[in-house]
Amino acid sequence: QWTTSSIVDEQVARIREQIGDGKAICGLSGGVDSAVAAALVQRAIGDRLTCVFVDHGLLRAGERAQVERDYVAATGINLVTVDARERFLGALAGVTDPEEKRKIIGREFIRVFEQAERDLKAEGDYRFLVQGTLYPDVVESGGGAGTANIKSHHNVGGLPDDLQFELVEPLRALFKDEVRRVGTELGLPETIVQRQPFPGPGLGIRIIGEVTQDRLDTLRQADAIAREELTAAGLDRSIWQCPVVLLADVRSVGVQGDGRTYGHPIVLRPVSSEDAMTADWTRLPYEVLERISTRITNEVAEVNRVVLDVTSKPPGTIEWE
Ligand code: XMP
Repeated sequence: QWTTSSIVDEQVARIREQIGDGKAICGLSGGVDSAVAAALVQRAIGDRLTCVFVDHGLLRAGERAQVERDYVAATGINLVTVDARERFLGALAGVTDPEEKRKIIGREFIRVFEQAERDLKAEGDYRFLVQGTLYPDVVESGGGAGTANIKSHHNVGGLPDDLQFELVEPLRALFKDEVRRVGTELGLPETIVQRQPFPGPGLGIRIIGEVTQDRLDTLRQADAIAREELTAAGLDRSIWQCPVVLLADVRSVGVQGDGRTYGHPIVLRPVSSEDAMTADWTRLPYEVLERISTRITNEVAEVNRVVLDVTSKPPGTIEWE
């Protein structure tokens, strides 16, 4: 029988076989997939695993502190944080094409891991890179037989050709709900296991247009408000995730106080889903939408309009890029 504990046992055995007495690095994104992948590898090879958390500047408010605090407390894992904000912003300057953004972000992640590997050299040979790639990531990046490339997930289609690591991907055959069960089986807390998905490329693929520091700050504020209100309304478990998107190249006219405004729209994209392969838009209560809209337009300077995405997947994808 295909139980969660048998998945854990089988993956632990495979990881031990692949890594032998070597050492591995795991990129933690703050999301559930990399958290569970790291916990599995930790179970297999103990402290020969070092986790690297890359602050690429595309994170949501509070995410770095949460990983540094909660995940380390729960697992006792070795964690190195790398501040790579300038590097990612520089690489993304002037780029507007979604696939190009994804590939740049995937490539820069790897470059940062390679640098981390060189920095850790004194402690041994970190030849293996652990990634929390799931089955749907593989399919949508065109990795499955006969499938089209819909998006290059940063950890699949975004990898550079001259990759210097051997990849360890223990979740490659699993769907999100199975990953959550594996996380629970490994003793990870609810706050990690039930976290809503957040894409590795982060806010970089939620700014439609060029990614700049100012735009990131604007989106981060709007996102924090939306998340705060959804949590306050007790809706976290009933939605799959709610991307908040900044239409950075669109402006519309508004009025605030006595004055004309010419600001950007924010899109709310609440979705319900089983596995992210298909999704429906979530019918959020009007009062919650109203609170989010009022707060974002009052509190975020550049934003004068909030719109709701009512598209299912297909034809829309969950993220806008
Ligand atoms: P889409 O937009 O393809 O998203 O409907 C499906 C799910 O995958 C997440 N997503 C990503 N996760 N790296 C990730 O780790 C990526 O490059 C990536 N792109 C999309 C998205 O948030 C949703 O849960």
